[in-house]
Parts: sequence; C-alpha cells; structure tokens
Amino acid sequence: MRLTLRLFSSVVQKRPFYVTTPIFYVNAAPHLGHLYTALVADAVQRFEKLTNPHYEIIFSTGTDEHGTKVQQAAAKANLSLAEYCANISSEYASLFRDFGVEYTDYVRTTEERHKKAVRHFWKELVDRDFIYKANYSGWYSVNDESFVPESHVKDEVRNGETVKVSLESGHRVEWTEEINYMFRLSAFKNDLQEWLKNDGVITPSKYQKQLQEMLENSTHLPDISVSRPASRVHWAIRVPDDEEQSIYVWLDALVNYLTAAGFPAARAWPADLHVVGKDILKFHGIYWPAFLLAARLRPPRRVLCHAHWTAAGVKMSKSLHNAVCPRAAPAAAHALRYLLLREATMAQDANYSETKLINVANSELADTLGNLASRCCGAALNPRQEFPALHAQELLQCSLNDVTVRLLDAAERMPDLCHTHYRNYQFYKAVDEVIHVLHLANLFFETHKPWELRKQVENQKHLDVILHITMETLRISGIILQPIIPDLSTKLLDKLQIPKDKRYWKDCERPSWKIKGAIHETKNIQSGKFVLFQRIYTDKNNVQKKKASA
Ligand code: MSP
Repeated sequence: MRLTLRLFSSVVQKRPFYVTTPIFYVNAAPHLGHLYTALVADAVQRFEKLTNPHYEIIFSTGTDEHGTKVQQAAAKANLSLAEYCANISSEYASLFRDFGVEYTDYVRTTEERHKKAVRHFWKELVDRDFIYKANYSGWYSVNDESFVPESHVKDEVRNGETVKVSLESGHRVEWTEEINYMFRLSAFKNDLQEWLKNDGVITPSKYQKQLQEMLENSTHLPDISVSRPASRVHWAIRVPDDEEQSIYVWLDALVNYLTAAGFPAARAWPADLHVVGKDILKFHGIYWPAFLLAARLRPPRRVLCHAHWTAAGVKMSKSLHNAVCPRAAPAAAHALRYLLLREATMAQDANYSETKLINVANSELADTLGNLASRCCGAALNPRQEFPALHAQELLQCSLNDVTVRLLDAAERMPDLCHTHYRNYQFYKAVDEVIHVLHLANLFFETHKPWELRKQVENQKHLDVILHITMETLRISGIILQPIIPDLSTKLLDKLQIPKDKRYWKDCERPSWKIKGAIHETKNIQSGKFVLFQRIYTDKNNVQKKKASA
C-alpha cells in the first residue's frame, strides 16, 4: 500500500513539459519543410529529456483536416473525405516515426475528443461575449484559409488573366461576402502588447519585434471572422446551436493544443513551447493568445518560430511544385535529419540540395565522426576491444603536446557551450562545436600515430591514453548529439557500452580526466567491425539504387 502511494506520488509530481508542432494540412503529402518543423520540436523535447529526466514530456503533433482545401483535395483524389484524411494523416505519422519524431500524442481534428474541445472552447468565448454575428466581406484566400486585408492584396497577371493575390503568401484571393461569427480581437490589443513585452516569449527576437510592430502599426486591431457558412465549407465542425455555420479552420486547428492537454481539464496548460514556421506566426502570436485570454486561459510560455527551407532559393511548397519528398532523399533517414537540424538557423531561410546533403553527411557523419569511431574501436589498434582506463600519471607523461592540450581544452568546454546553444535553439552552433572538437580529436589521433605505438609493448600505456581520450571525446559527443541524431548516437554509445542510465546531460559535463580521484576502470566495448554511417556514393547510379530501395 505504502509502495503504491509512493509510486503514485512520484508519478504525480513529475512536472509536465509540453511542446507542440503545428498540425499539418492534409491537402497534400508531407514534404521536407513539414518534416523540419517536427524535427525542431523533437530535438527540443529530446534535449529537455536529457537535461531534466524528471520532466514528463508531452509532445503533440497531428493533422489539420477540415476546410475547403481538404474538400477540394479529396474530390480531386476521388476519395471520400474520411478515407482521404486518414490516408494523408497516416503518411505524416509514419514519416515522423521513421525520422525519430518521438511524439506522445497525435491529434486529428476529425477526432471526437477534439470536436468536443472545440465546441467547449467556442461556448466559453460566447459566454464571455467575445463572439457576435455580423455581415462580413473581404478578400479570402482558400490556400491560406484566411481573410486578407485590402492593404495586403495586389494585382498580378497569371496565365494571361489579372487576378488578386495576397502580398504575404502570393496565393490567390477571392472577394467574399457572407454572414459570419466574429471574434472581438480588437478588445485584446493592450493585453497582447503586454504579453509581447516578455523577453523571449517569441524566439528569435526578430519575430517578436515583427509582432510588436504589427500591433503598433495598427491603430485599430480589427475583429476577425471565426466562422464560414456551412453551405460553402461543409467539412468542418459546426458552430454549437447553429447548423448553418462552420467554425473557422484556424480556430478549430489552434484548439488542438488544448485537446492534447486534456482540455477542458487543462492538465498541462499553458504549453511550454509551440514550434511554428514563420508563415503561421501571426496565428500563434496574435490570434491564439487572444483566443486563450478570452477564454481565461494563459497564453503559451513561448513560441519558437523558424524560417523556411527553400529549393533553388524558393520556399518549398506543394502549391509551387518544388517540394522535396523526405523519403526520396538519397540516404538513410538520419542523414537528412542531421542536415535539416545542422544547417538551418531559426532566423534565415536555408536552401536544400541533394549535393549539400551528400557532402555534409559524408564529411561529418562518415569521415569526421564515424571514421574516428571505427579506428579507435577497430581490432587493428584496439585488439583487446576495450575502452581503456585512464591513469592521470600516464596522461601527464605522454600526451601534453600542443594538439593534445587543444583537444582536452576544447572537449572540456564543449558541453557548456552546447548547452547554451541548445537552450537558445541554435542547433547548428551546437553541432558546429561538436564537429570542431571531433576535428581536433582526429588530428590528435593522427599526430600520436597509434599504429606505430601498437608495435612496441612498452608503448601500450601511451596507446591506452590515446584510445581513452579519443573514446571519451566520442562518448561526450555522442551524448550531446542525441537530440540531433538519436539513432546514430545510440549506435555509438552502445558500441562504447555506455549504460543507458549514463547518457544524460549531467554525464557529459566533465570529461574523465577532469574528475579528480575517480577510478577509471578498463571496460569492454562491443566487439566487431563498426561502421557508424555508411558513406553515400556520389556516383549517380549508386544514388539511384539507394532511392529505389528506400
Ligand atoms: N495547418 C496549419 C497549422 C495549424 S497549427 C494550429 C498549417 N499547416 S501546414 O501543413 O501548411 O504547415 C505546417 C508547418 O510546416 C508550419 O510550421 C510551416 O511553417 C511548416 N512548413 C511548410 N513549408 C515549409 C518550408 N518550406 N520550410 C520549413 N517549414 C515549412 O500551416
């Protein structure tokens, strides 16, 4: 009985850490840009898990399945709406699983639990008088599922015809007049401005400034339409007590974050982090906090906004026909995951190309990391298949040349630096740091010529020091890289036989040679040939073969 109570209280006391991805439109199959959003959120939650093992991670993702776009896509695919949505939704789920996105909840907006949450949320807004009915007219973009103000619309000639398009997205807009329910966004200008004063509430700060300016520049924040006539948008959640109106897809979609938190019993609210692309910043940085405040709920603690992946300099998107399918990339999933998290910065767009993927994966995963691991774990230099003990005395006697000092120094500083980079969501800087240390480790290994030391018995201790320092550097790097390349890190740490409960952040904070008085024992490593990452061949035929078998 007492044991049950103790177990119960230790479960209850875990602090939830709630991170979300946007939910993905099912009007088209996933592309590399979508995958990226999910990978960013996954890397964040993995880092939290490493540093705070006592957190209960809630990581939600899912699919946004209502609206005109989906109606049109299902009709085009000649499938029933239910079947069409289920197909694309499961494509997202399986893509995420294959790329190591460890979500704990997957919300589909067509699920009953979600519809209940949306209706409940709507009633809260009505009860507090933040919703009213009005005649609405304006430019509407089906593609963006949003009204576009007159000032954000321009003329453009397309296929010989002059059409109106949205300045922001470039998508076509149509003049629309209808009866809608409106949300009193105008009532929240001050509250939103106050919320946006909190440092870091939107990261990076450039996006926070954009939102602040958006509010400052509008003397009057207009109310927004939050329903559509059901006659036009029938694939949607109906407004409670009004069968003729459908709830606006963005309101429906945003509430998914509450659905996963167990709303109306808001178990894990507010969310700790919403990860979003810059194209949907306004919805998360203006509309969503206003909806929440209107329902007397707290806005999210933080919104992390990222820039886009482009192909040949143009934003990757299905409608522009330049979307790259992640499964068609010429390598295993972890190479693409590595590239996406390693290359992109949150503030600037990044350009994708197969050549870049191949070059980065080969030079960093195969040559710099993989090759070093193979050499120090291989039977040629390490016939006893050990992670040798380190004896401080020997370290002093045989290794203090310039390269060694540089490596030891850089490896000691790496965990702290990487911790800061992860905390700032600057994954590329964390990876840069690790690769820099691994370059030094390769140089160190070469400089000490372990293949020569190996020939003389009296040099065995010296060789052990070289192997130890290299393997210790690999152990620390492996722990640090877990949020970026979880599968490869696991493979490396398994090879070095690092116990599963010794792979937390605290386990990489100090290298062995800095731990005074610690007894470093010799440990076995997993024996056998070790290839961490198979090089990708640039030869066209080989790339093609890989694609076919992927
Ligand atoms: N359904 C809405 C989100 C509702 S959340 C309450 C939506 N869906 S989406 O499928 O169009 O986009 C989902 C995510 O993918 C967004 O974060 C978006 O920024 C991201 N990306 C889509 N194309 C992208 C790139 N080319 N590059 C990086 N991310 C991009 O918006």
